[in-house]
Amino acid sequence: MTNLANPTTAFIEISPNCNFNCSFCFSKFKSKKFLSLSEIKVICKRLKELEFEEVILFGGEPTVHKKLGEIIKTAFDNGFKVKMVSNGYRISNDLLKYFKYLDAISISVHGKVHHDEIVKVPGAFSRVFENIKKISEVCPSTGLLFSPTSQNLNEIFETASLFSDYISYFGINRIIRAEESKLLDNKIHYLINEAKRISKELGIISNIAHSFPYCKLRNISDIKFISSCKAGINSIAISNEGSIKICSASDLSVGNIFDYDLYNDEFYEYRKLSWLPEKCKKCKYLGQCFAGCKFSISPNYYCGDVLIEQEEV
Ligand SMILES: C[S@@+](CC[C@H](N)C(=O)[O-])C[C@H]1O[C@@H](n2cnc3c(N)ncnc32)[C@H](O)[C@@H]1O
Ligand code: SF4
Ligand code: SF4
Repeated sequence: MTNLANPTTAFIEISPNCNFNCSFCFSKFKSKKFLSLSEIKVICKRLKELEFEEVILFGGEPTVHKKLGEIIKTAFDNGFKVKMVSNGYRISNDLLKYFKYLDAISISVHGKVHHDEIVKVPGAFSRVFENIKKISEVCPSTGLLFSPTSQNLNEIFETASLFSDYISYFGINRIIRAEESKLLDNKIHYLINEAKRISKELGIISNIAHSFPYCKLRNISDIKFISSCKAGINSIAISNEGSIKICSASDLSVGNIFDYDLYNDEFYEYRKLSWLPEKCKKCKYLGQCFAGCKFSISPNYYCGDVLIEQEEV
């Protein structure tokens, strides 16, 4: 992996706030600042000069940004593929008019029975369900992201079935750095089987929407059910203050989108890949697996996945 290509996808954390309160949430912000529409215009211009192709509107929760519609249109007018990840609760008819400019949207839904308890908002599930029906009529591609916890593990297939008329993708998150991750690390094989079942029985594309060390798979042919994470190689994240990060799940700043120099030394150091575990450097799957989740241990530094050295997964 020498002469790495430049990143082409940017997650933009337009909002530091959220109307939900999920216990496992990795979104932590240093300030309550929202990226303004004029800052978004500068960011789009900058990303365009750097030949980025895709922006993913992210948060916190993007729908709490008052100018979300205009932000979507601005990114679209700059020629980007525009995607968004949202909890799907605050979707007004006015906002829906802008969804035709989205290439795809992923809505986080965590099961009919336990969703409201997990996000801590009564009535959230039924409102989000109704919103997803409307979104799927205007957005070219609608997907779900399911975060498994101890409560909702047996609701995965049922949730995909319930939404099957409206979605083309069902991603199962692998929770990192939270109480839930301890429980779930040894359930990964069950989660992969659920993704397989959804693909086979419902005809919906499904996978673990997060990286996981391929060498921990019981069956290597399951590779197709694990996302490939090349954070910092083909994607970056931009925080609500313009800080550049390797991944949205990290707090480590590797530059600033508003600075002339853009990336700092840490970014180039990361891309030298000397930090990779020795085992990964020699591995034939490195190009896709890329050492699993680089921030599964800490948001403040990168390293190989927490599970690489674990005997039993
Ligand atoms: C951080 S949220 C931001 C966008 C939006 N608020 C939402 O919930 O979709 C993006 C996705 O990350 C997931 N997520 C949050 N914390 C996580 C964690 N600790 N590990 C893995 N996924 C997590 C959420 O469930 C959601 O699907
Ligand atoms: S809805 Fe998204 S940003 Fe909000 S608390 Fe849940 S995971 Fe975090
Ligand atoms: S790259 Fe590293 S974590 Fe991934 S399969 Fe190879 S040895 Fe395992």
